[in-house]
Amino acid sequence: MKSKPAAGALSSSAPILKANAAAIAEAARLLRAGRLVAFPTETVYGLGADATSETAVARVYAAKGRPAFNPLIAHVANLTAAKAQGVFSADALRLAERFWPGPLTLVLPLAPNATVCAAARAGRSTIALRVPSHPTALSLLAAVDLPLAAPSANRSGRISPVTAAHVSSDLSGEIDLILDAGPCPVGVESTIIACLDGPPRLLRPGGLSRDLIEEALGAKLAEATGEGAVIAPGALTSHYAPRANLRLGAFSLEAGEAGLDFGGHFPASQYVLDLSPGRNLDEAAARLFTFLRELDALQPDCIAVAPIPHVGLGEAINDRLRRAAAPRSGQI
Ligand code: TXA
Ligand code: MG
Repeated sequence: MKSKPAAGALSSSAPILKANAAAIAEAARLLRAGRLVAFPTETVYGLGADATSETAVARVYAAKGRPAFNPLIAHVANLTAAKAQGVFSADALRLAERFWPGPLTLVLPLAPNATVCAAARAGRSTIALRVPSHPTALSLLAAVDLPLAAPSANRSGRISPVTAAHVSSDLSGEIDLILDAGPCPVGVESTIIACLDGPPRLLRPGGLSRDLIEEALGAKLAEATGEGAVIAPGALTSHYAPRANLRLGAFSLEAGEAGLDFGGHFPASQYVLDLSPGRNLDEAAARLFTFLRELDALQPDCIAVAPIPHVGLGEAINDRLRRAAAPRSGQI
């Protein structure tokens, strides 16, 4: 294993600008010209493009190396803008009114006069919509006055970025500008709920916990699995992959392993990072992707991961860890 590397040392050709008013105006100008801008959201950094432009969206798929069958989330400034793109059922409206802006994505039937292009939807007749709560994302959406297609700003199949430096290390040279507003506060991607035919279904656990959603609906969420086809194509098993293998549910370290701890199971060393010594799952989610990257940079054969309680944001954390631990063949 390597020792921990010094922080810093970016090798991007894309400028990284502190997300002030001038930088946001420049980002909006680039986006309106069909260029790619990475920007912070409360969950992870997104790779933004004009969602109404087939050319701009094609650049996103190319930059990420993302298969064209995997649709993108359209980010909009508010519920009114979302209603122009998707058809809201009563449940969808209840969730949007309660949780937007915030870490919730709704998959809805496409509205008749929607402007989000077919490529952004991977040709589907449904659309994924989200109003992010991060002030930089909201300012950018207001300035650009377009829906922004924004997948997580990582190479397809790799760990999502929660800092501008992560974006830079993954997509160096592929994008036109990175807006930097520091680390993302939530740290895992949005929860995705489909409100199509039948009861709302959980397609991806994320930064908004299941219990809050079920409380708002007054009903349990249906599951995406067990009914045939997975309908969040990005939720294929191998994803969020570090280079090292992962060993989940570990109570102790084996020789040569680095450790991703939760609640102090592993002896402290330079090869161990604790997501939350005090067992706080929100804190653990916010640190998850940064710590995975840092441990992976030590080049261990294996990262042992302590058990994470499957409640609150623990469900999203365990989902990402399970995907990170999955076999790599066929990864997207
Ligand atoms: O927090 C987030 O959601 C971040 C930030 C940047 O907003 N974005 C994000 O995007 O995680 P991405 O592309 O990495 O993940 C979007 C997921 C994919 O799994 C995709 O398959 C699914 O949303 N998705 C998009 N449109 C869909 C649709 N119409 N039906 C089902 N799943 C859809
Ligand atoms: Mg992603």
